[in-house]
Amino acid sequence: MIFSNKLIAWYLDNKRFLPWRETKDPYYIWLSEIILQQTRVAQGLPYFEAFKQTYPTVFNLANAQEDDVLLLWQGLGYYSRARNLHATAKKVAYELNGQFPTTYKDLLTLKGVGEYTAAAIASIAYDEVVPVVDGNVFRVLARIYGITSDISTQRTKKEFQQVAAGLICPEQPAIFNQAIMDFGAIQCTPKGTDCTPCPFITTCVAYQTNQVDKLPVKLSKTKVKNRYMDFLIYLDEAGNTQLEQRTKKDIWQNLYQFPVVDRFEDTPINMEEYLQQQPSSSAITHIECLTQEVIIHQLSHQKLHIHFWLVKTNTTPANPIPWEELNKFGFPIVIHNFIQSLTV
Ligand code: ADE
Repeated sequence: MIFSNKLIAWYLDNKRFLPWRETKDPYYIWLSEIILQQTRVAQGLPYFEAFKQTYPTVFNLANAQEDDVLLLWQGLGYYSRARNLHATAKKVAYELNGQFPTTYKDLLTLKGVGEYTAAAIASIAYDEVVPVVDGNVFRVLARIYGITSDISTQRTKKEFQQVAAGLICPEQPAIFNQAIMDFGAIQCTPKGTDCTPCPFITTCVAYQTNQVDKLPVKLSKTKVKNRYMDFLIYLDEAGNTQLEQRTKKDIWQNLYQFPVVDRFEDTPINMEEYLQQQPSSSAITHIECLTQEVIIHQLSHQKLHIHFWLVKTNTTPANPIPWEELNKFGFPIVIHNFIQSLTV
């Protein structure tokens, strides 16, 4: 049996029932694909439902305030994706009369839509015969066909795109692409793969040559920088705190945070001394470290080492934020979780 028939037969028996598979509406398919760039299906589902409910059409999303979109995105990380999502909704709503582009090539012109997402939308919403290629597809094809090229290079991506283009079922590209996604997520998993139920077991090169754990090959690892952040939770006598918005081109752009002492070197900080040197030091009545152990927060390129400090003051700051109103602001998830741990 040819590859696509076997794969689709597997899919029909094993596929996941996902809400965005109930529709051909490109808005919902685009929304799901942008969310799934960021997270696995199980974690992405509640976000998809929340966006769909809050913004049932692309016009609703286009008309939203960016802060509200970021608030709904909170927890998914990589907030530039949420800003791109909003920018694209505006473009589709205001410049394209609410119509998403209908081809792979035109979909690529949308902000936040790369090759994978364009291929997913074009095939799923419009039945264009264009294969999706991502980490899952690298793994599936590298193993079944014994491809040993280094998947961290652009050239290998082209190689896999060609292989996938030769395999995709021209009559059912939407099903083929979703089948390979599910096959990579459920059967041909990155670690601890149980190959016994796999329909390709008799021909899979990796299985037959005992290389399932060795394929695909990835040579270069991303460099991760350490970063040290001490967040200052100011609290005045009326229960107000202080926030700032991150505006620089950096992690967490446009999200809110407590004032921070931020550095890339592991220089220990004496917080009392540090605060004494700040202009409003005379108002400080109490300083306390709230985190006995450092909180480690791993991002794709940075490892954050975080402490939170309580800094009580006896004067009201310039822009006081009542503690009960913190839920109106979009925070990075690590700060959101810490606030939750204090409040409950
Ligand atoms: N991962 C990315 N896109 C997906 C989709 N449409 N279905 C399942 N998993 C996915």
